[in-house]
Amino acid sequence: MTIGIIGLGYVGLPLAVAFAEAGHDVIGLDSNATRVETLRSGESHVEDITDARLQAALDRFEATTMARRLALADAILICVPTPLTPNREPDLGPLLSAANATAGVLQRGQVVIVESTTYPGTTRERVLPILEETGLTAGRDFHLAFSPERVDPGRTDHTLRTTPKIVGGLTEECTAAAVAVYADVCDELVTVSNPDTAEMSKLLENIFRSVNIALVNELGIVAERLGIDIYEVIEAASTKPYGFMRFDPGPGMGGHCLPVDPFYLSWKAREHDITTEFIELAGKVNQAMPYVSVEKIERALNDLSLPVRGSKILLLGVSYKPGVGDIRESPALKILARLRELGGEVSYHDPYVPELPRDGLASVELEPAIAASDLAVIITAHPGINHGGIAETVPTVDLRGVTRKVHATPATKVASGKES
Ligand SMILES: NC(=O)c1ccc[n+]([C@@H]2O[C@H](COP(=O)([O-])OP(=O)(O)OC[C@H]3O[C@@H](n4cnc5c(N)ncnc54)[C@H](O)[C@@H]3O)[C@@H](O)[C@H]2O)c1
Repeated sequence: MTIGIIGLGYVGLPLAVAFAEAGHDVIGLDSNATRVETLRSGESHVEDITDARLQAALDRFEATTMARRLALADAILICVPTPLTPNREPDLGPLLSAANATAGVLQRGQVVIVESTTYPGTTRERVLPILEETGLTAGRDFHLAFSPERVDPGRTDHTLRTTPKIVGGLTEECTAAAVAVYADVCDELVTVSNPDTAEMSKLLENIFRSVNIALVNELGIVAERLGIDIYEVIEAASTKPYGFMRFDPGPGMGGHCLPVDPFYLSWKAREHDITTEFIELAGKVNQAMPYVSVEKIERALNDLSLPVRGSKILLLGVSYKPGVGDIRESPALKILARLRELGGEVSYHDPYVPELPRDGLASVELEPAIAASDLAVIITAHPGINHGGIAETVPTVDLRGVTRKVHATPATKVASGKES
């Protein structure tokens, strides 16, 4: 097959490389000319795809800014961003632009699959009409499906191949055609009745995480006030073999998905006079966490008889999660901005984020920065950094619970001595 992919970011690039590795020809369209040039030169901007892997795929993978190249594709996968507008409403601009690009090359027999996360109804109500303006009919002349991407950047235990992929086509034939596209890159495909169900299943997964993270964040605040170690509570509760799933508190939610996607469903629900209380509440709690974290930092400085103003504060990890350099919606950026507003002299160390151009900062060398700082703050605990050692060297606010074993005793399992 020849696979066309629109949008070569965290989702599209790994897909492109996977299809090329499986022996298919891949045409990747991206509107960002610099990104296309970089990819062509064999340089990957996605941590999960090494330069060597990209370079090995390049004889089958063509990155381009020319939409007409997609005319050669048997299938076109749409992987463009689905952000929110400044008023927190779905911004379907990139998706509709990708649908228009697809309509421009659409031919009989092609399979079009939307992978971008979006509200239920998008594929049917917004993408389908654009494609059918060509005079071709979905389910008869071409196939249309939604298949949500479940990739978790930085993760190695579950991959594109091993994570079951949900597919919902407009018709049964559309579903079958989309399943056939993924057969060589995914071990297990899960079919659902229609694109709307597939769209909503992705939102359920993300809302589930957002709500549970908010819950544990709130409990973390309560536990701290009560003088209880929330991590010991979580470790103890996690010993229950059923009916409990572990989530950890943190400085707030980041990334392109969890802070954004749930509001796609809230928006759609409002169209039907429904208010999505859980989504709103979780958003409110999670959005407050960077400010809760700043209060913790202020208290830690207070314990050292220091004001924020003039204190040297070193932030450790500014991307939104360990092992990746993605700073979209990262709570670190809010913490950084607030501490600066309060007059703090803030620097940061993050091996995955060499620069924060908007803040005029570059990642500093770890050792000298620790020596020069009044306080370190662990915002994202990247692998390969000795956080415990840092906490023993400089007063540290640990927003991820990674240094508690330096000071505290974890929950211990003791056999009862009785076999049941
Ligand atoms: N990043 C994740 O972990 C993740 C996981 C699952 C699902 N998703 C979803 O997948 C979608 C893509 O996310 P991402 O993280 O890969 O985004 P990204 O920003 O990393 O990449 C998107 C790419 O699309 C390009 N683009 C934008 N508009 C375009 C257009 N009209 N035509 C061609 N190219 C265009 C951009 O230049 C960029 O290279 C979103 O809907 C997101 O919610 C993301």
